[in-house]
Amino acid sequence: MEFPVPNPQSSIGNVPSHVAIIMDGNGRWAKQRGLPRLKGHEEGAQSVRAVLRAARQAGVKYLTLYAFSTENWVRPKDEVDGLMNLLSIFMDRYAKELLKNKIRLRVMGQPERLPEKVQKKLVKLMDESARDYEYTLIIALSYGSRIEIAEAAKAIARKAAAGELDPETVNEQTVAQHLYLPDVPDPELMIRTSGELRLSNFLLWQLSYAELYVTETYWPDFKEAEFFEALKAFNKRGRRYGGVENT
Ligand code: FPP
Repeated sequence: MEFPVPNPQSSIGNVPSHVAIIMDGNGRWAKQRGLPRLKGHEEGAQSVRAVLRAARQAGVKYLTLYAFSTENWVRPKDEVDGLMNLLSIFMDRYAKELLKNKIRLRVMGQPERLPEKVQKKLVKLMDESARDYEYTLIIALSYGSRIEIAEAAKAIARKAAAGELDPETVNEQTVAQHLYLPDVPDPELMIRTSGELRLSNFLLWQLSYAELYVTETYWPDFKEAEFFEALKAFNKRGRRYGGVENT
């Protein structure tokens, strides 16, 4: 299906160009209903679609979703397999929808650790969707921010050792340019569901100036309406970047 067209004149006002989300609470949502955890992840995948739709409608250019952290590998094998399977189903089911709505799929993290079948589908959809796009969906998979920063440091050190870069010139831009997706602007808004007040190793560098929105709602219950609420809350914040308020 075609998503609703963007509506810049909507009541939301200033729309963040990049929104990042920690999708949390799938397990607790399922437990509350006496269901297996995987049912929570399944309904969570429906929220992914709903939020993607809402983000496009609002005109959010980049949406980054924390789907699987480097720490998540220690979960029971059944749950990890189930999550990988859900990702695979999501791509099968929504590939056409992503392409039709000009949404490019990108991945950040260590996709090489994912099952080969999932990697192949990701690469295919990433290639296809990169041809003609207006919006970008970034899925953080086997992602950890400290590893990302350490890898950037390693790449910079290698260049310095090879004489390609003067260590004295290393600054914030140098580090930013060596992160996974250097061309993507930093998120202006970070949403976390299910009430936890933590960053959980998510985009530690990129979220330096982001507004944080935490809701008690579990991810499977987080749909279009609450996403718009978060955008409205973002609009009410006075963003100063360490400076003073403009009056
Ligand atoms: C956190 O809930 C959620 C995850 C670890 C997985 C998120 C995955 C999805 C929403 C499914 C598919 C994703 C895509 C992009 C199609 P939790 O299990 O930590 O919940 P809990 O804290 O209540 O136990």
